[in-house]
Amino acid sequence: MPTEENFLFLEQLSNPETLAGTANAMRDYQTLITKYNCAIREVRTKFEVLNDELSIKSNRNPIHAIHSRIKQPKSIIEKLHRKELPVTLTNIREEIHDVAGIRVICNFVDDIYRIADMLLQQDDITLVRCKDYIKNPKQNGYRSYHMIVQIPVFFSDGKEYMNVEIQLRTIAMDFWASLEHEMKYKKDITPEKSTTIGVRLLSCANTIAEMDAQMQCIKDDIFEEPDND
Ligand code: GTP
Ligand code: MG
Repeated sequence: MPTEENFLFLEQLSNPETLAGTANAMRDYQTLITKYNCAIREVRTKFEVLNDELSIKSNRNPIHAIHSRIKQPKSIIEKLHRKELPVTLTNIREEIHDVAGIRVICNFVDDIYRIADMLLQQDDITLVRCKDYIKNPKQNGYRSYHMIVQIPVFFSDGKEYMNVEIQLRTIAMDFWASLEHEMKYKKDITPEKSTTIGVRLLSCANTIAEMDAQMQCIKDDIFEEPDND
């Protein structure tokens, strides 16, 4: 294992004199990232299995799409710097909960709670933290259901518990969040303009929430049988 407190692989990358150290650090970092990738695969499979099963039982798919990503090294380093922590493997594991991220886009709001409950009932999944930005939207209008879960991943030398961040949202919530995210990072916006844009985005978020509620009612009418089996 590397000397963890010296795990400054990105800083080392820009210094050719420490190439050997860099190679070791990169290998250990890659090993950790591979473990997160495996954790993502495990959680993704769980969602796919639930979707397959529910689609047979209810005649419709609760999940529209699943996206996953591993946090970029640059973002990991920036987050640790923000927390004023040294860049070490231990800190990445223990202090950053969203190295592995899965986004599950559901068709309807009730699908989100159903799918989340079903995942948490599985006995190898442990809930670390949960934030319900659907019942309590953020001030800017952001809505999603967030969970950090821990899942064991089995390797040749034993099992390791890995954190995975799960974001569940409807198609409509994802539409808003994706565009808001894109526009948030647009640089040349004056403070006054930014305030009015915020107000307009909030209004869009509320319209979208209303639409989600209506779609849910239509769905409930069509699938009269409550599909809480
Ligand atoms: P991070 O440091 O950003 O990971 O925040 P956190 O640890 O407080 O977690 P939180 O659950 O609040 O948010 C985690 C993730 O949700 C973010 O990285 C985004 O992907 C998403 N998110 C949260 N708030 C917003 C928002 O206002 N707009 C958009 N588009 N995405 C958001
Ligand atoms: Mg994040």
